[in-house]
Order: sequence, then C-alpha cells, then structure tokens
Amino acid sequence: MKITVIGSTRGIGLKVVEQAVEKGHSVTALVRNPASLFFRHKNLHIIQGDVLAPHTISGALGGQDVIVFTVGIMPTRAPVKVFSEGTKNVLDAMQETGAKFLIAVTGMGAGDSKGHWGFAYRFIYTLVSIKTIYEDKDRQEQLIKESDIEWIIVRPAFLTEGPITGRYRILTDMKTIRPGSISRADVAHFILNQVSDPSFLRQAPILMY
Ligand SMILES: NC(=O)c1ccc[n+]([C@@H]2O[C@H](COP(=O)([O-])OP(=O)(O)OC[C@H]3O[C@@H](n4cnc5c(N)ncnc54)[C@H](OP(=O)(O)O)[C@@H]3O)[C@@H](O)[C@H]2O)c1
Repeated sequence: MKITVIGSTRGIGLKVVEQAVEKGHSVTALVRNPASLFFRHKNLHIIQGDVLAPHTISGALGGQDVIVFTVGIMPTRAPVKVFSEGTKNVLDAMQETGAKFLIAVTGMGAGDSKGHWGFAYRFIYTLVSIKTIYEDKDRQEQLIKESDIEWIIVRPAFLTEGPITGRYRILTDMKTIRPGSISRADVAHFILNQVSDPSFLRQAPILMY
C-alpha cells in the first residue's frame, strides 16, 4: 500500500512509519523540517510541508491509498486550531488529489468519548492544559465525520513508550470505557491493521489495554 503519514517525526507517527516500511509498504512522510525525521529507509519518501500551509500538502497525497494524521502539540492554555484547520486543509487536499481514505488520531476524551476519564484524566485535563486541545479535537472529529471520504478516527487512551504487543482492547461502546493506557507502538499496530483490513470504517474506537 502507499501510505502518507502526517506527524511522523516522533510519537505514534514515527511508529507508523517504522512499522509500515518493515511490512513493505511505500511510505511518504509530510514533515515541517526534514532534518527532524532521523529515520531513513528505502521505502520512505520525505516531503516538506505543514498542515497549516495548504499549498504544501497536496504533493504528499496524490496517488496514495491511505493518509494517516498523527499531528500533536505540547500542552497549552492558548486557543488551538492545528487539529481542525490542519484537518480541513488535509481534507481539501484529499479532494483535490483524489485520495479517499483518512485515518486520524484524536484521543480518548474527544467527541462522544468525553467524560470517561476518571480522576487522573480530569486532573490532567484541568491542570496540564489540554482543554483547548480537546476542544479543537472535537472540531477535528466533526469535520472528518461530515466529510464524504472513508475515515477511521483512532482514540488512544493515555500514551506510553511501551513495546508493541498486538494485544489491546478496541472499544466502540463509550459506556464501557475506563481510564487506561496504550503504547504508541500498539496504536501504530492498530493503524496498520486498519490500512490492510479496514474493519472500523466510519467508527471512532478507543484503544487501551
Ligand atoms: N499524550 C497522550 O497521552 C495522548 C493520548 C491520546 C491521544 N494523544 C494524541 O495522539 C497524537 C500523537 O501524539 P504523540 O505524542 O504520539 O506525538 P507528538 O509527539 O505530539 O508528535 C506530533 C507530531 O506532529 C507534528 N506536527 C505538529 N504540528 C504540525 C504541523 N503544523 N504540520 C505538520 N506536522 C506537525 C510534529 O512534527 P514537528 O517535528 O514538526 O514538531 C510531530 O511529528 C496527538 O494528536 C496527541 O494529542 C495523546
């Protein structure tokens, strides 16, 4: 498959890139600064771009089977727009280039998964300043759901640097979710399973152990 990963210099996006090339996929990484992506592989093509600069995106999307959006930012109390505006720009570029399938990582707490975090998450939400981030992730999810492309929204629980296990829960009934965690490597594992066999189309599952 031909996969574009947006947000690939670290975190989940980098795990997706690493696992995808190992599986023999052809990967394009859209990065703001190519020097900040240290990983290199013969199946990896790097294109410079920024989701907030619409004219820099479409060159990485043409002819691709799947677009994976894993953009993230540091905690902030300032208004956030990178998720909604970035996703709108990506959706417009997908329309322009004919790309049809988007897998986007938002997070447990976005959209209708809000309110299941327990004490630890509420503490983080208020004190570590992710309120405006999740407000923008709500807008991001809405834009994706209203689009006419094929999509999967991936909502990981608290992220860890643990190893890939391939053993985690995939929850679509929001009433069953509890606070939990999952490694970035296992989120990437789920994303790549969905690239090959998209069984969660037009759904927004929570991932946790
Ligand atoms: N932390 C948690 O517990 C948790 C839980 C659930 C969900 N999430 C979400 O999961 C996602 C991935 O998080 P992560 O911690 O694995 O990754 P991360 O460390 O937040 O990495 C974010 C990536 O986004 C890129 N990026 C930022 N702004 C961009 C822009 N304007 N254009 C293009 N690329 C841009 C960064 O590239 P640069 O090198 O250019 O900065 C980087 O590669 C995030 O959306 C995060 O909110 C996090």
